[in-house]
Amino acid sequence: MSTTTKRAYNFNAGPSALPLSALQTAQSELLDFQGAGMSILEMSHRGKEYEAVHNQAIALLRELLGIPDDYEVLFLQGGASLQFAMIPMNFLPAGRKAGYVITGVWSEKAIAEAKKLGDTYEVASTKAGNHSSIPAPAELKVEADTAYIHITSNNTIFGTQWRDFPDTGSVPLIADMSSDILSRPFDVGKFSLIYAGAQKNLGPAGVTVVIVKKSFLATANPNIPTMLRYGTFAKENSLYNTPPTFGIYLMGLVLAWIKEQGALAAITRRNEEKAALIYDAIDASKGFYVGHAVPAARSRMNITFRLKSEELEKKFLAEAKQAGFVGLAGHRSVGGCRASAYNAVPVEACQALRDLMVKFQSENG
Ligand SMILES: Cc1ncc(COP(=O)(O)O)c(C=O)c1O
Repeated sequence: MSTTTKRAYNFNAGPSALPLSALQTAQSELLDFQGAGMSILEMSHRGKEYEAVHNQAIALLRELLGIPDDYEVLFLQGGASLQFAMIPMNFLPAGRKAGYVITGVWSEKAIAEAKKLGDTYEVASTKAGNHSSIPAPAELKVEADTAYIHITSNNTIFGTQWRDFPDTGSVPLIADMSSDILSRPFDVGKFSLIYAGAQKNLGPAGVTVVIVKKSFLATANPNIPTMLRYGTFAKENSLYNTPPTFGIYLMGLVLAWIKEQGALAAITRRNEEKAALIYDAIDASKGFYVGHAVPAARSRMNITFRLKSEELEKKFLAEAKQAGFVGLAGHRSVGGCRASAYNAVPVEACQALRDLMVKFQSENG
């Protein structure tokens, strides 16, 4: 692939844009990985070449997120959706309750799975406002005997994001960070468990990253099937069975790219700049574009907005498609428009979207 390859303005919500340099490295190594005469896809997960790739991905994640030594970093399969069930299986014992902060479709799905396995309750919900906000700390109602509190750090569908994470004291905090992990620095030490499907900021679909505090892991229920126990993966460095080797390899390349960019400090600045381009176009449009999220809860990853009518939205999306933009339709459950500006989406793509929005308004306003 030459550097002049024409790339779409990719605003897909996930799977989504990957850094060009990571794709190019994968391409160049596809037939012959580091002189082995075969690709990483064809190698044993027990061999030294793959082991180095695996451990390098873990080391980079630890470095970029500042993960303390008393946490395990695991690579699982089953997507973030399997975590919705694994978390209560492992950490919700009889006689205790799991508290869920409901901020959108994904937290609804998470609590629905937990309900099948034990007692749950809503710590807070933004449903009444159609999930356009994030609850204030005072709105969190934590009950006695809470085994853990679950939040979704970024709501991919509604386009809201926690700015500051809540302080839950001695109650373990768990976060689904599928759609904003590695987009900004945060204190891992606040959480007992963090999970994320890879297919937004980390790499291709097929790998789920779990970061779990060792002392929390020690409290997990041992009487569940082997493949559903976090302990199985922790004990074997996520090599209990065959891991998704190619996905982990590509994730390692994405992590190396993040480091090269200047790690999370630089990535955050870029993400802020990118999101501001689009939010500024919304705010300057005087109601032609209406953002879904209240300003204080705006996601820097998924920017959701509507136009005056569905007809106008269709026209906007058709013109965007014509101009080389991909993935701008809102999630099928909410409609409207959504620009997912994950880490690998370049600033130029956001500038181009801003320009398109301004032009479309001037022609249709
Ligand atoms: C916040 C969040 N959680 C969970 C999921 C589900 O992920 P998966 O498809 O990996 O199960 C998604 C998918 O978009 C998501 O955005």
